[in-house]
Amino acid sequence: MAEELTEYAGPATMEKITSLAKRRGFVFQSSEIYGGQNGAWDYGPMGIELKNRIAANWWKTMTQLHDEIVGLDAAILMHPRTWEASGHVENFTDPLVDCKKCKTRFRADMIPDENLANKTCPECGGELTDTRKFNLMFRTHIGPTEDNAGLIYLRPETAQGIYVNYKNIIQSNRMKIPFGIAQIGKAFRNEIVTKNFIFRTCEFEQMEMQYFVKPGTDVEWFNEWKKRRWAYYEKLGVKMDHLRWHQHGPDELAHYAKDAYDIQYLFPMGWRELEGIHNRTNYDLTRHTEFSGKDLQYIDQDNNNDRYIPFIIETSAGLTRTLLMLICDAYDEEKVADKGDADDWRTVLRFHPVIAPVTVAMLPLMKKDGLAELAQDIRNELKEDFATDYDQAGAIGRRYRRQDEAGTPFCVTVDYQTKEDGTVTLRYRDSMEQIRVPRAELTEKIRQEIKSYKRKA
Ligand code: GAP
Repeated sequence: MAEELTEYAGPATMEKITSLAKRRGFVFQSSEIYGGQNGAWDYGPMGIELKNRIAANWWKTMTQLHDEIVGLDAAILMHPRTWEASGHVENFTDPLVDCKKCKTRFRADMIPDENLANKTCPECGGELTDTRKFNLMFRTHIGPTEDNAGLIYLRPETAQGIYVNYKNIIQSNRMKIPFGIAQIGKAFRNEIVTKNFIFRTCEFEQMEMQYFVKPGTDVEWFNEWKKRRWAYYEKLGVKMDHLRWHQHGPDELAHYAKDAYDIQYLFPMGWRELEGIHNRTNYDLTRHTEFSGKDLQYIDQDNNNDRYIPFIIETSAGLTRTLLMLICDAYDEEKVADKGDADDWRTVLRFHPVIAPVTVAMLPLMKKDGLAELAQDIRNELKEDFATDYDQAGAIGRRYRRQDEAGTPFCVTVDYQTKEDGTVTLRYRDSMEQIRVPRAELTEKIRQEIKSYKRKA
């Protein structure tokens, strides 16, 4: 086995990623003109395309490629009893300390032990308050009065929407155990520490799948889902030496979990959680049975109508965190010339073509002599099959660089030869190689390239 990386050694920094994300329209600070809103971010034209493609790829992996997994889109606002049953009202807390001098707020589990023991601020040396528990759920009110009767929470995870619908889905879709329910959606947490760009935010999106299994088969399914989720990142072309497993120790395990592994990624700021795979036992369904009074047992009609509360294996990935990971993973700086100026280097996002916001950029060599019209015409043909962009402004080299920085895997250039023999130049982002392709074969050629794409080491 290769030795595990200890430190990030690539060209990215969080500052570079944040700046590129803004420059190219991936991610903007929320409400920036008012000074920004902490813990919230807006996804620009490229960001929403990237996010949609990651979501579509995950959805396909989970539902289209698994006969026994179906989808759901549950409401963000749920009956408040849900969160009592799930344990979130009681247990979903972070330990919090404040510095009495500089007023900085810390998560007690994120500051050095000696500071906690001496009650000294790691920033200014001032005195820290006692540790207190802080519930991460956002509360609001439904209806016209702000009293306890109307108290409602913004969901802190999408999972509970699945559990409360599990019986509906068994009945409507005749699901038989083992089966899964997948969901992508917003979740909200009143996070105390939100640094590192979009890594930990108050509003974010999750891609969760809950797999319902017979008790006693849970360990086997847990291991199976660990394998499947690892393979998912491999297929996306992620640098596999930047991924590792982290098993939760007894002090980390969530109140519902029997076993839990995180897939961690080596971000520029170090190893951090990307996704969790949890054996949630029958905790959630047992609690919802208790709190709702509804019988949530599964009736095994193929097995003498045996009744049991299923165990749940959960795979829980952050969509917005995956987006950050994929930008960091794709980020590269490459020396492409030796002229001694800024143009010697290019910044390139080596996204897998299935998630790249733009798949093909159409670039006419010149605007004149009908080349722009011809390029638009070819682009219109490609639009049916691919996300395209069009750029006729500036020198061709500059335009290639702009597309490299946005992660566009293919550029097509239309020139005078196109008018003569109907061929175009297809330029590959990663190798910068250029080949001539007959216009009539272009769509199929790009489709094949996407299918056989392998990221260069
Ligand atoms: N249903 C289980 C659950 O929510 P979690 O470990 O708390 O488990 C799962 O969250 C994933 O959601 C994390 O691995 C991470 O990718 C993402 N996530 C959690 N909190 C987040 C936050 N504040 N901002 C962005 N992503 C977050």
